[in-house]
Amino acid sequence: MAETIPSAQSTEIRPTGEDNVIEVLDLHVHFFTTLGVVRALNGVTFKIPRGRVLGVVGESGSGKSVTGFSIMQLVQHPGKIVKGQILLKARKDDQPINILKYDRHSQQMRNIRGNEVGMIFQEPMTSLNPSYTVGNQIQEAILLHQTPDKDEAWRRTVDILRRVGMPNPERIARSYPHELSGGMRQRAMIAMALSCTPSLLIADEPTTALDVTTEAQILDLMRELQKDIGMSIMFITHNMGVVAQMCDEVVVMYLGRIVERASVEEIFYDPKHPYTVALLRSIPRIGLSKGEKLEVIKGGVPDSYSTVTGCPFHPRCPNFMPGICDKVMPAETPIEGNPHHTVRCHLYPGSAAEAEVETSGLAPGTAPAAS
Ligand SMILES: Nc1ncnc2c1ncn2[C@@H]1O[C@H](COP(=O)(O)OP(=O)(O)O)[C@@H](O)[C@H]1O
Ligand SMILES: [Mg+2]
Repeated sequence: MAETIPSAQSTEIRPTGEDNVIEVLDLHVHFFTTLGVVRALNGVTFKIPRGRVLGVVGESGSGKSVTGFSIMQLVQHPGKIVKGQILLKARKDDQPINILKYDRHSQQMRNIRGNEVGMIFQEPMTSLNPSYTVGNQIQEAILLHQTPDKDEAWRRTVDILRRVGMPNPERIARSYPHELSGGMRQRAMIAMALSCTPSLLIADEPTTALDVTTEAQILDLMRELQKDIGMSIMFITHNMGVVAQMCDEVVVMYLGRIVERASVEEIFYDPKHPYTVALLRSIPRIGLSKGEKLEVIKGGVPDSYSTVTGCPFHPRCPNFMPGICDKVMPAETPIEGNPHHTVRCHLYPGSAAEAEVETSGLAPGTAPAAS
């Protein structure tokens, strides 16, 4: 099982003092595989203001899920959080706490998972137990966290199933997960995550497996519930269309780093990083003229065991500048006149080198001998 090692608590960074439900600071997660160390996250820093929706986008393998799992302290073996802080401020008047000081198996962490932070996984069966009815599972969670009264817990169970748009919530509550369609199961999982009214909901590609009609319904519903109960959402997706619909702010991830962050409007109308531009060009859009093709991003994400020096995107970048981009890791730089829009790219003035040059892949000296 992965655990937090002492260095995760040592370098204290001060929280911003704003009302952020979560602040992730300089998070590093490594997977200690038999072939070497895979650096899945290389210093990820972001925050989610209370009641806001943050989109986390990037191609497969960029570290989106590992970031979500880290907040739940559910990074699986052989993964470890090796550095960083995760500051949770569940309620407005709370002091932020660095949850990495709790053991992942501790009672405190279990409380956080059930009460303060909920997670919706891509595959509903990850969190639904096939041997209990949907209603039993939600009722259990409510009994554990909200009320000891069984009848009251059942009433709340049916109510939450109704709120996630189940047509006949009493009947659904008495059904087993396998008796439901994919869309219904997804709604049941959302109901379960919402049944504890978490301050933060982590939604990891929650609608990827669904047909577009069900997807649209579920997205509407999440947005509605988010407004109703004022929770914050970390919305992980590789679908930029979903981002436009759901999010207030966006971070773009590439190979375990955030390469751009901005409001959703700025990401769509004024993207700065060549990777963000490429991601946007690869989605269908209104105004695409007849015969104009969607672009694909050149090349693929390098495999986890190869090392890239300089900017991790340089081998695929249309704006690649030899001698700079392949040598120096660009630091996170605010776009002039807008401290809330930042980018890691040498095209932008002020993107000084970051001290650390190593980007991802194997730690030095651990490459397999035969390769
Ligand atoms: N069990 C694992 N063993 C080794 N490496 C892993 C494991 N899980 C994740 N990783 C590494 O973490 C990277 C990020 O994974 P992930 O967060 O799942 O990507 P995303 O959700 O953006 O598709 C992967 O590319 C891989 O290198
Ligand atoms: Mg993922």
